[in-house]
Amino acid sequence: MLAGRRIVLAVSGGVAAFKSAYLARRLVEAGAEVRAIMTRSAQEFLGPQTLAAITGSHPHVDFFEDPDVSPHTDLARWADAIVVAPATAATLSRLATGLSDDLVSGTVLAFTGPVLVAPAMHTEMWEHPATRRNIEVLAGDGIVVVGPVSGSLAGGDEGPGRMVEPEEIVEALREALGSGTLEGWLVVVSAGGTREAIDPVRFIGNRSSGKMGNAIAVEAAERGALVTLVTSAEPPDHAGIEVVQVESAAEMAAAVWERAPGADVAVLTAAVADFRPKNPSAAKLRRAEGLPELELEPTPDILSGVAELERRPCRVGFAAEAGPAAEAAIKAKSKGADLLFANDITAPGSGFGVDTNAVTVFTADGSSEEWPLMPKRAVAAALWDRIIELRAAMPQPGARPRRRRQDRS
Ligand SMILES: Cc1cc2nc3c(=O)[nH]c(=O)nc-3n(C[C@H](O)[C@H](O)[C@H](O)COP(=O)(O)O)c2cc1C
Repeated sequence: MLAGRRIVLAVSGGVAAFKSAYLARRLVEAGAEVRAIMTRSAQEFLGPQTLAAITGSHPHVDFFEDPDVSPHTDLARWADAIVVAPATAATLSRLATGLSDDLVSGTVLAFTGPVLVAPAMHTEMWEHPATRRNIEVLAGDGIVVVGPVSGSLAGGDEGPGRMVEPEEIVEALREALGSGTLEGWLVVVSAGGTREAIDPVRFIGNRSSGKMGNAIAVEAAERGALVTLVTSAEPPDHAGIEVVQVESAAEMAAAVWERAPGADVAVLTAAVADFRPKNPSAAKLRRAEGLPELELEPTPDILSGVAELERRPCRVGFAAEAGPAAEAAIKAKSKGADLLFANDITAPGSGFGVDTNAVTVFTADGSSEEWPLMPKRAVAAALWDRIIELRAAMPQPGARPRRRRQDRS
C-alpha cells in the first residue's frame, strides 16, 4: 500500500536520526516516493547526502535557502503523509503550538493529511510535564504518535524515550494511509511457466519463476482475500492461499476456468505456452531413432476463455513482451481484459526470475500508464489498489454466496 505513495520524511536533531536513513530505505523499498526535510540540528547527526543518496533527491533544510520559492506549501501539496522521525522535544513543542519557524513545522502546519511523529529523547525529557502536554495536544489534533519505547538510550541510560524501530514506523504509516481491503473477495491467480510434454522426459517450457504471481497472491491474502493460486512453480507458504499445482497449459486452463466463475477477480500472470506438441510420445524419444518430427498445435487461451464465461470475474492479464509494450494494447482489447500488465522482459531488472518489475498498464478503454521499476511485492500492492479502484467504478454482479475460510478442505 506504500507503493507509489508520496511520503515526506522530516528528521529533527536527535541521536536517533541515524535510524532515519534505515527508515528512508524501508520506505523506498516499499515503493514509496520519499522527500526528506532536515532541521538544522538534524544535520549535526546525519549527513544530508546520506538521505539524498537513499531518496534520490536532496533534503530540504530551510525556507529561504531552498531552490523552491515556497518549499513548505509545495511539499505539503505533494505529500500523501508526513513522518517526523525522530521527533525531538523541541520539534514536538513547535508542532503542538503551531510555531512555524522552521521548514519541518511549517510543512506540517501547511499539510492536511496524516502526520506521524516518532519521539526520541532522554527519559527525563519524555516524562517532563511540558512534553506530556505537547503529546496530548498533538494526539488531540489527530497526529499519530508512534512510540517511544523503553530501552537503552544515548549515553548509556535506560528507560522510556527510545525511538521505535523503522519497521514499526512503516507499519504505522501503512495503517494511517489505509490499505485497500480485499476482505470477502475470492481471487484466482495463475503463476509460473507451463510445460508441454514432448515425451515423458522432455518438455517445451519457459523461464517464468512464478515470483510475480506469488507476490500478487500473497498481497491479496494479506489484505483478507481468499486466494486460489493455480501454479506450475514453487508456491508461497501462506494460510490464506489454496494452491492448485498444474503443469501444462491445458491443466492450467481447466483449473482456472473451473474456479473463475465463482471469483471476483482473476489475475493471470502465468507464462502459458502458445503451442504444444500435438502428439507427445508415450515413450522416451531416442537419438538412435533419428530426428523426431514435432508437430505443434495451439494451446487454450486462458484469458479469452475467462472473458467468455457467462459469470466472469474482473480480468487482469499479464503479457511478457520482448521490447516496447505496444502489442499489449491490442492484446488487452482482443482478449477481453479489464487491465493488462505488460512487462518488457528484456529491460534491466524486469521480467523473469528477478525480484523487481517495471510494467505498463493498459486499460480496456485503450489508455495506458507506465509504472517505475519496483520490487514485485510493491507492484502487487499497486496492482490491487488499481483493481479496487476499477471494481468500485464497475457495475457489480448480483450477490454471490461467500466462501468462508473454514469451508476449505
Ligand atoms: C548529543 C546530543 C543529543 C541530543 N539528542 C536529543 C534527542 O534524542 N532528543 C531530543 O529531543 N533532543 C536531543 N538533543 C537536543 C536537540 O538537538 C536540541 O533540542 C535541538 O534544538 C533540536 O532541534 P530540532 O528539533 O529543530 O532538530 C540532543 C542534543 C545533543 C547535543
